[in-house]
Amino acid sequence: MQGSAMAQDYVWCQGIPFPAGGFNPEIIKAAHEKLVLKDEDIITVTYPKSGTHWLIEVLSLIHTKGDPKWIRSVTILDRSPWLESKRGFKFTVERKEGPPLITSHLPIQLFPKSFFTSKAKVIYVIRNPKDVLISGYYFWRFTNLAKKPESLQQYFEWFLQGHVPYGSWFEHVRGWMSMREKENVLILSYEQMKKDPRNMIEKICWFLGKVLEPGELDLVLENSSFQAMKENKMSNIIDVPEELVPASVKITRKGITGDWKNHFTPAQTQAFEETFREKMAGLPPELFSWD
Ligand code: A3P
Repeated sequence: MQGSAMAQDYVWCQGIPFPAGGFNPEIIKAAHEKLVLKDEDIITVTYPKSGTHWLIEVLSLIHTKGDPKWIRSVTILDRSPWLESKRGFKFTVERKEGPPLITSHLPIQLFPKSFFTSKAKVIYVIRNPKDVLISGYYFWRFTNLAKKPESLQQYFEWFLQGHVPYGSWFEHVRGWMSMREKENVLILSYEQMKKDPRNMIEKICWFLGKVLEPGELDLVLENSSFQAMKENKMSNIIDVPEELVPASVKITRKGITGDWKNHFTPAQTQAFEETFREKMAGLPPELFSWD
């Protein structure tokens, strides 16, 4: 298997697999039990490969009213640290001041307990899971952060079983969708963001109680485009050791909807749809607005 000698496996916390590169079950537990979120915190929450970095870029730019200086000089990992990672947990606990942006891929049952009695705001991005699967395949296959799939078919099977980083997409989404009526939770979809990014920025500003001048909104839009992010090295992963994430792996891979159609066989499409129907039964279909 390509590069497998260096590949890490998983560490487990309450039955959920996490990439061994960068995570520790004790820290994840501490994030769940002890991390105190502040009312002013804005937390980007996603299942990996759903558009996390894009949302962080938009939130960073809303914070600076479109000025790209910050996004071009500080990496995403430092602008909005992952609260459950070794590095992000320390940062989140020790922070004193600065923009209150935090990120997490945690399923709801492992999310910091303090959130549920705070006014901190969560923005959750949901993406067509077939595209999440393809995006994840390329990411986990060519990095050494977690167990590497040998083929798309193998990753496809792991994904349906939930044996991929952060566990089952179906359970992650089902868990977070239970929060969709809460005042301090906004659900966005990657597909809506692609279709009408200006509307997405307006929605986020409204949710956060922020007002941007029309020119500032234009700057947020322009500086968070796929092309702008591709050209900004601070929007990609540059501060993780090369042996874990080779420089050739970019977060900004294709940035399109429907790439799964270039990869899935008819049998995979059918198997995926059967699993989807079974696992997501009872949730309103309008939550899943990609087809
Ligand atoms: P693809 O691999 O399908 O291209 P995450 O940030 O959660 O890891 O998600 C990564 C996915 O978001 C990648 O999908 C990436 O290309 C896409 N993405 C990142 N920035 C984007 C942007 N500005 N516009 C559209 N898609 C973007």
